[in-house]
Amino acid sequence: MKLFIDTGDIREIREAAAMGLLDGVTTNPSLVAKAGKPFKELLLEICQVVDGDISAEVVSLICDEMVAEGEQLAKIHKNIVVKIPLIPEGLKAIKILKTKNIRVNCTLCFTAVQALLAAKAGAYIISPFIGRIDDRGERGMNIIEEIRTIYDNYGFKTLILAASIRSPLHVKECALAGADIATIPFPVLMELAKNPLTDSGLKKFLDDWEKAKK
Ligand code: E4P
Repeated sequence: MKLFIDTGDIREIREAAAMGLLDGVTTNPSLVAKAGKPFKELLLEICQVVDGDISAEVVSLICDEMVAEGEQLAKIHKNIVVKIPLIPEGLKAIKILKTKNIRVNCTLCFTAVQALLAAKAGAYIISPFIGRIDDRGERGMNIIEEIRTIYDNYGFKTLILAASIRSPLHVKECALAGADIATIPFPVLMELAKNPLTDSGLKKFLDDWEKAKK
């Protein structure tokens, strides 16, 4: 499973990249707004740190404007993947951008049948939001399992990018369910590497080492 980081914070991206963890980055308008710098400048900074798919979302809501915005985003760097929301106008835009060989990450997916439509429209990536489904008291992981089954049943090559991840358990379950990518917030990414038994075991090793030197 590929690991992306879900942030617009270049410091978080650099830290995670330094650990050799990153296959890509996802942003969204909220994360970009939080970064507090011009969109193009931020995207270029990210592309210089991570050599992988970098998702950048359009903010238009009608097809022709989404396509025009997507073309501009794609020109910024070869690794830019254009993010398009899963709405009817977005499906039209995905179809057009596909003919222009512009890769699309279809975002804000909340059902398996939405994901089926995105694959048929030609999306390169589908982003089901598991955390936001959990937030409603339903089991977000169901959608990953259902999309995996449907895509495998019919040979769709659209990549499943598990989004809206809230915990290391989500990451494990996504890997077990066969998601192609998980996009992970920095705090969760750091939690993946930590375990109290590792810390206590390391302390014991070093304490024993020091005692032996005396
Ligand atoms: C992908 O980048 C999504 O926009 C993101 O994972 C959403 O996460 P959230 O539900 O925590 O906002």
